[in-house]
Amino acid sequence: FKVPAPVNEPVLNYAPGSPERKALKSAIEAARSATADIPMFIGRKEIHTEDKQEIRPPHDHQHVLGHYSKGDESHVQAAIEAALAAKPAWEDLAWEQRAAIFLKAADLLAGPYRARINAATMLGQSKNAYQAEIDAACEMIDFLRFNVSYMSEIYAQQPGSAKGIWNRTEQRALEGFVFALTPFNFTAIAGNLPTAPAMMGNVVVWKPANTQIFAAHVLMEVFREAGLPGGVINLIYTDGPVAGEVIFSHREFAGIHFTGSTAVFQQIWKEIGNHIGNYRSYPRIVGETGGKDFVLVHPSASINMTSTALVRGAFEYQGQKCSAASRAYIPKSLWPELKKRLLEDISSLRMGGVEDFRNFINAVIDEKSFDKITSYINRVKNDPQAEIIAGGDHDKSTGYFISPTIIQTTDPMYVTMCDELFGPVLTVYVYEDEDFRSIPRLIDSTSIYALTGAVIARDRYAIEWLEKELRHSAGNFYINDKPTGAVVGQQPFGGSRGSGTNDKAGSMVNLLRWVSTRSIKETF
Ligand code: SER
Repeated sequence: FKVPAPVNEPVLNYAPGSPERKALKSAIEAARSATADIPMFIGRKEIHTEDKQEIRPPHDHQHVLGHYSKGDESHVQAAIEAALAAKPAWEDLAWEQRAAIFLKAADLLAGPYRARINAATMLGQSKNAYQAEIDAACEMIDFLRFNVSYMSEIYAQQPGSAKGIWNRTEQRALEGFVFALTPFNFTAIAGNLPTAPAMMGNVVVWKPANTQIFAAHVLMEVFREAGLPGGVINLIYTDGPVAGEVIFSHREFAGIHFTGSTAVFQQIWKEIGNHIGNYRSYPRIVGETGGKDFVLVHPSASINMTSTALVRGAFEYQGQKCSAASRAYIPKSLWPELKKRLLEDISSLRMGGVEDFRNFINAVIDEKSFDKITSYINRVKNDPQAEIIAGGDHDKSTGYFISPTIIQTTDPMYVTMCDELFGPVLTVYVYEDEDFRSIPRLIDSTSIYALTGAVIARDRYAIEWLEKELRHSAGNFYINDKPTGAVVGQQPFGGSRGSGTNDKAGSMVNLLRWVSTRSIKETF
């Protein structure tokens, strides 16, 4: 039988006086006033080590939210052993029984854990209430529920049979263990990368970004409370290369589910290549990496719509989305009015800590990120080819704050048109209206990436032409919208070229990467 397609989890609005706002405020207060002592989870055990690392909110780095126990090679080894020990019973469990665990986890997140997971994401990753709600609550819940329904469809698919022949398809879990290496910017992605393979009967070693541990730990508590047996997902906190060394040289390494930078993904691919003769099977390599996402505005575009798409697309969550709008191509005829509107819209964005719900812009994730983004901004300040037309200010005295920044350049190949900054910076190139038809080629030649992109136009001929011309330029292509905020079950997410393997997160395509099919033919 098949599980019916679920509906997307409704987004709560946290209006003043609403019960969800009260619950969220008290969860934030509780998380801020406790000093969390966060263990790794290996097998059935919580593992504390002597190596305690501080967790601080990026927007308030004097405050200590708690500590996590950092692990070393021995913990990576122990996590692999615990995973392999859990494997026989887990892959033998009927898929409906596995499904029940993940559906229950979704219900726990939708109900009793909603405030806690949002509060942890807000404080640990400096995300405002709305951005946390659409990520840690809604998208995470959607990943779990939709994946369960896709899983049921995968198991239900069977080949045709003929007289005297009975054909069957068996979707086996991969032999060995899967490694989930997860990013800081979305709690939902951090949770999806281990649970998607686990759902399909695999056992997993999960290493989150060190800057996302505060919320990753809450997710793990939810999975355990939902009945996930010990050892199926093992959560470890180590430096990346420490985990990589042990994992990629292990004979039982079966695959990696990754979201992070293009450079790290390419390094991982090489490491796997170096050990390719040692593995039992060719590992599954599934990764979503960088982006340099474009917004191409046609002369027929609405000014209102363009400004909203640019401001939300570029600056929500401080631009720290691989899908964020980071380069815009604007026709000269629209620029004076659009510029005025953009400056007005930006001036209404408040910046500050997540505890004050009026703040739209919070801090970037850490000092390394702050230094990288601001070095690009400072470079523009002395450059005749570019000009800062909005923002450009930054201050790390209390938190890693960078004001929403718009750079205008006369060079379409300018460094901030090409490099992924992963911060609240949008670069604008103004083109002559009659050059419109050369812009798609420019978009492609400027970047190695092809994750998301948007076109804003009223003219239907232009829309149709752009949809074709930019066929390979974005895995998620938006018409008259911002290029961020893909919804599970509606716009499966991922890109190709330098942006990843395009095995759409939260889709049947993705889940099929975590099984190895056996065809069985029986004759009577
Ligand atoms: N899925 C996110 C978005 O669409 C990015 O990872 O914005």
